[in-house]
Amino acid sequence: MNFIIESKIKVAENLHLSPMGCGTWAWGNRFLWGYEPEMDTQLQETFNLLVSQGVTWFDTGDSYGTGKLNGRSETLLGKFSREYQGDHQSEIAIATKLAVYPWRLTPQSMINACEKSAQRLGRKVDLVQLHWSPAKYLPWQEKPLLEGLARLSNQGLVKAVGLSNYGAKNLLSAYEFFRERGVKISTLQVQYSLLSTYPFVKLRLKELCQQLDIKIIAYSPLTLGLLTGKYRDLNHLPSGARRGLFKQLLPAIKPLLLTLDAIASDNGKTMAQTAINWCICKGTIPIPGAKNPLQARENLGALGWRLSRGEVEELERVALGLNKQMIQNIFQTR
Ligand SMILES: NC(=O)c1ccc[n+]([C@@H]2O[C@H](COP(=O)([O-])OP(=O)(O)OC[C@H]3O[C@@H](n4cnc5c(N)ncnc54)[C@H](OP(=O)(O)O)[C@@H]3O)[C@@H](O)[C@H]2O)c1
Repeated sequence: MNFIIESKIKVAENLHLSPMGCGTWAWGNRFLWGYEPEMDTQLQETFNLLVSQGVTWFDTGDSYGTGKLNGRSETLLGKFSREYQGDHQSEIAIATKLAVYPWRLTPQSMINACEKSAQRLGRKVDLVQLHWSPAKYLPWQEKPLLEGLARLSNQGLVKAVGLSNYGAKNLLSAYEFFRERGVKISTLQVQYSLLSTYPFVKLRLKELCQQLDIKIIAYSPLTLGLLTGKYRDLNHLPSGARRGLFKQLLPAIKPLLLTLDAIASDNGKTMAQTAINWCICKGTIPIPGAKNPLQARENLGALGWRLSRGEVEELERVALGLNKQMIQNIFQTR
């Protein structure tokens, strides 16, 4: 099996990312995602498959991994990238997100956190991202943390700097802050999918990011699995924390699932592939999470083709007509 490898996207002078990455929030998370250490073999197979097919970058976070498993996602990515022997090995890139813990108050706390991530990864962090902005609840915490990211960049400890869950106003002031220090914001990671159009429709982030030359990374592009179509009715729900949320959303999003299914069939693709492809057509770099090689293989099929403009618009029209969308991350700023 060989997929069409698409050209990499330049996000910084020395960092090129595949047009789709892989999210690894589930790799170590028991509470939401039902992770168990016995899954590590299948996760390594997932990693190997993706890299071998040219999807060479992985998104993680230093807060990923529940309880005693804190940092597990980074540790697994470190092991997998060290042990990987196949094609595209030199292109592997890891993007991590540093959490805005209340005890992280100084620039040095960010530098220390990034060093810890690098230790777990056994390699330098390629793209360091601030996981969220404290602007809504502790605004004075933000500048020292941004300063820490700027120093990481200026000291050559990372290849690129990104932000996450930032709205337009907040992004502009961070942009200015970094510009004064000679640092470029390379990426902005936001929750973006057919069920989470808020960052584009309400926050107008697409236009702003184009203007500032910031690439948009779309997280949860499958709305936590909902857009794959496998959780189609109330008898087929995931266990754990997603259950309640899906129960609420499912009745309202039926029209979208039907349209997604129809457009997927017209293209000979699956709903997951079509939902991810839609994010790519909207100019973002999606990072669907995958828990096993089967899911990874399916998600790889989102590459190598594009929905027509009419199909992109039709999906968006139906999505915008729904009376419910995915809830936004509580840390998302305006
Ligand atoms: N910056 C932030 O604040 C933030 C927040 C959230 C996520 N993220 C990042 O974004 C990444 C992706 O988002 P996400 O993991 O939240 O959600 P997602 O990508 O929308 O959904 C991923 C989940 O959908 C299911 N799935 C994936 N591919 C599938 C397929 N082909 N067929 C059937 N089921 C499939 C799997 O769960 P099941 O098999 O259990 O259904 C998988 O864990 C995360 O891993 C993380 O790296 C960032």
